[in-house]
Amino acid sequence: MIKDIEKILVSEEQINELCDRIAKQIENDYKDAKKLVLICILKGSLPFTAELMKRISLPIELEFMKVSSYGASTTSSGVINLHLDLHRDDLSDADFLVVEDIVDSGRTLSMLVEHLHKKGVRSVKTCTLLDKPSRREVDFTPDYVGKEVPDYFVVGYGLDFDEKYRTLPYVGIPNFVFEK
Ligand code: IMP
Ligand code: MG
Repeated sequence: MIKDIEKILVSEEQINELCDRIAKQIENDYKDAKKLVLICILKGSLPFTAELMKRISLPIELEFMKVSSYGASTTSSGVINLHLDLHRDDLSDADFLVVEDIVDSGRTLSMLVEHLHKKGVRSVKTCTLLDKPSRREVDFTPDYVGKEVPDYFVVGYGLDFDEKYRTLPYVGIPNFVFEK
């Protein structure tokens, strides 16, 4: 464990287990889908998307979208910026599954879902590695949740603080959270 991390909240082993479980659910729910497209939300959901996609034994297409709300802060700014949109000409023929690292206020995913509906997708569901339901500010429930976590700022496995700690293989609570 690196010195900046006070406590591991979700270990590598737990992450593998929850990926196995969610991949099975997705495989079952989408077995009759004509075209399933996973949307990896950059940058945070890259590791989770990579783990999930190799466990789902269905033909899958992959897309990337990029949004930001945090920056160098541990609380969301409330303003969501769309930096990379989805460009396809088969939106009404495909079922989209948005893969996110964590749901906090719920603003990012509820905005994205609304945005994708407006673009005319056939269907859209959401999948998140972590969920902090106690922080919700808008009425939003993800379709697939890896693990519910308490209201701590967490890093690792894609999650960053000011671009640091994304590459850790586990999710942990940094020291500074306890020093405040
Ligand atoms: P929401 O829009 O408030 O639901 O925030 C979701 C986004 O905020 C996620 O995509 C993360 O990028 C970021 N976020 C929320 N909680 C954390 C955290 O504990 N650590 C790192 N990033 C977080
Ligand atoms: Mg994010």
